[in-house]
Amino acid sequence: MKLNGHELVYFGHSAFLIKNKDGINTLIDPWISNPSNKRRLEEYVDNVDYILITHGHGDHIGDAEEIGKRYNAEVIAMFEVTNYLRSKGLEKLTGMNIGGTLKKENISFTMVEAAHSSTIHDGEKTFPGGSAAGFVISMEDGFTLYHMGDTGLFGGLKMITELYHPDLIMIPIGGHYTMGPREAAYAISVLNPKMIIPMHYRTFPVIDVSVEEFIKSLDLKIRERVIPLSPGEILR
Ligand code: NI
Ligand code: MN
Repeated sequence: MKLNGHELVYFGHSAFLIKNKDGINTLIDPWISNPSNKRRLEEYVDNVDYILITHGHGDHIGDAEEIGKRYNAEVIAMFEVTNYLRSKGLEKLTGMNIGGTLKKENISFTMVEAAHSSTIHDGEKTFPGGSAAGFVISMEDGFTLYHMGDTGLFGGLKMITELYHPDLIMIPIGGHYTMGPREAAYAISVLNPKMIIPMHYRTFPVIDVSVEEFIKSLDLKIRERVIPLSPGEILR
């Protein structure tokens, strides 16, 4: 029981489902229809309570509109991103901003810094997305996950580590738009988590990085903490 009874499902790219042990289901960056994933959400859950979106890019907003409507899920994102989703007909929205914590049932969602952009592109139009962000997700039992969103290295990592002590990190390694293996390895040396889940790689050609390259960049002692998940795989 690595995750204290909670479960994590990977859908490829940066899309994850957290099933907490009390039955609260939270999706993060729900691009379930990404080209690397063949699995359907309904194979894993019959309800979604919360959808977290790290920033306004299409590969992160993903299928939030459709999933939010289908399950009447509450979407939690940067204020500007929730404004955009309201214009698409979603109603159950909580806009927040970096530094804030939202307590929901027995989970708390804290929005933290990410070094990235966030303009929303919808057809020919663009909408403001505010700042890109990451999420620290803390369960009542203390188990803490940190989804970094899309980000390069930033100075605040040490503060996030010291304040929240994340047990499990979902970290982008694909380079080009985010950190690559070398930068991600540095971030891990600061964060020092028990579990490391690489994300945002191999989905399309420009981020076609191998997980081995990331592992080789890590300190020998912590290489075994990397848990590469395939789309559809469940971590318990
Ligand atoms: Ni992005
Ligand atoms: Mn992205």
